[in-house]
Amino acid sequence: MSVIALRRPAAAPPAERRERVIGGHVSVREVTVEFGIQAGQNGARRAVERASLEIEPGQFVCLLGPTGCGKSTLLNCLAGFVHPSSGSVQIDGEDVVRPGPKRGMVFQHHSLFPWKTVKKNVAFGPRMTGLGRELAEERARQFLALVGLSAFEDHYPHMLSGGMQQRVGIARALANYPSVLLMDEPFGALDAQTRAMMQESLLALWAEFGNTVLFVTHDVDEAVFLGSRVVVMSASPGRLIADIAVPLPRPRTPAMLTAAAFIDIKRQCLDIIRAETLKAFEQAARA
Ligand SMILES: Nc1ncnc2c1ncn2[C@@H]1O[C@H](COP(=O)(O)OP(=O)(O)OP(=O)(O)O)[C@@H](O)[C@H]1O
Ligand SMILES: [Mg+2]
Repeated sequence: MSVIALRRPAAAPPAERRERVIGGHVSVREVTVEFGIQAGQNGARRAVERASLEIEPGQFVCLLGPTGCGKSTLLNCLAGFVHPSSGSVQIDGEDVVRPGPKRGMVFQHHSLFPWKTVKKNVAFGPRMTGLGRELAEERARQFLALVGLSAFEDHYPHMLSGGMQQRVGIARALANYPSVLLMDEPFGALDAQTRAMMQESLLALWAEFGNTVLFVTHDVDEAVFLGSRVVVMSASPGRLIADIAVPLPRPRTPAMLTAAAFIDIKRQCLDIIRAETLKAFEQAARA
């Protein structure tokens, strides 16, 4: 018998149904983060101070604050990359101690593997959670279709524009069906038109999947357009100083950007953020 005869015939990959996820309940209690060799001692730098935040399953919350105030640090605590010096971070009642597949992360600049094709980048997470290659690649194709990049599955990241790379990043984060999606200024480097398109498509994906989302931005329009709540951080060390509800109906549309209700909420955010940005500049001048 030849070796070839022992091989199984190539089968079409079994189709996988797309799922809606169960959004995670995020609970941040009295979190303080200090950096430095001697955290808690003189010389340590306090990045976040006694931050508390509850996010209901499936809610879309935006975190707004001046540069350097500790937004990424707080997000990284939720991702499991940074450990609080005190306080607790829990998702669905469990302490976050390390990164995990149920928390998807999207960064400002894409963090794709440059040596892997777009499809293999997206399939990587599902492969790591134990899915077979064919199913993982099938899932990658589905998610690339959702972000409009089916035609680019065999391209490498450097062959794509910045906006396309961010779409791959979103597909990659969603492909693990995360209960919580953590986004750190994902559209910060994009031009205004691409950014607007990406905001709308992100909302459509969120409506389909139901993840809990924490979205960091320093763009007030973006925060109000996307979020059901806008949480505002103070100048460094970051404290959560305002939690503003955005009772605009969904689906959100570009026409809402000029609605009186939108402008009113935007003004509330701007007043706080302007005062905090001024403090941040004064701090920087003194440093
Ligand atoms: N790994 C680290 N080691 C030491 N200090 C850090 C570390 N990460 C962040 N910091 C400091 O913590 C503070 C908050 O930084 P962070 O990146 O969280 O701010 P941010 O609000 O995300 O700022 P930006 O809007 O510019 O992205 C800054 O002073 C920063 O220098
Ligand atoms: Mg940041």
